[in-house]
Amino acid sequence: MKEKLAKLALAARGNAYAPYSGFKVGAAVLCGSGKIYTGANIENASYGLTNCAERSAIFSAMSAGECKVCAIAIAGGKDECDYTMPCGACRQVLSEFADENCPVYLAKSGTEIKAYTLGELLPYAFGGIK
Ligand code: THU
Repeated sequence: MKEKLAKLALAARGNAYAPYSGFKVGAAVLCGSGKIYTGANIENASYGLTNCAERSAIFSAMSAGECKVCAIAIAGGKDECDYTMPCGACRQVLSEFADENCPVYLAKSGTEIKAYTLGELLPYAFGGIK
């Protein structure tokens, strides 16, 4: 499954709209239904309105009625793809829909993949008022 997610993240990277940074990112999320959703970073002339690839993919999934993310793959880089860590905002958004064991795959290619868990990348996450 990690190779499949990596390949879909790499393909989604092709849809990135990144004329300002030139840094293109794609993401693929495996959801509770078994379906996979993808997203890319979408930049804006007003830079702060940029949406990261991970959040594009997660929001697409949730908008389609999903409620759980079981794994995510991320593929990013300026010219060529390299291992790209998710930003803090995307880690926090992922933590809303994924548990601490959720695999986070960083794809350099369809076969060069590093694996972390969300808990490793966002320890002591803020979980709101429970
Ligand atoms: N970016 C992502 O898509 N995901 C991240 O986790 C980090 C950054 C995008 C935002 C911006 O379009 C570009 O990468 C450079 O920061």
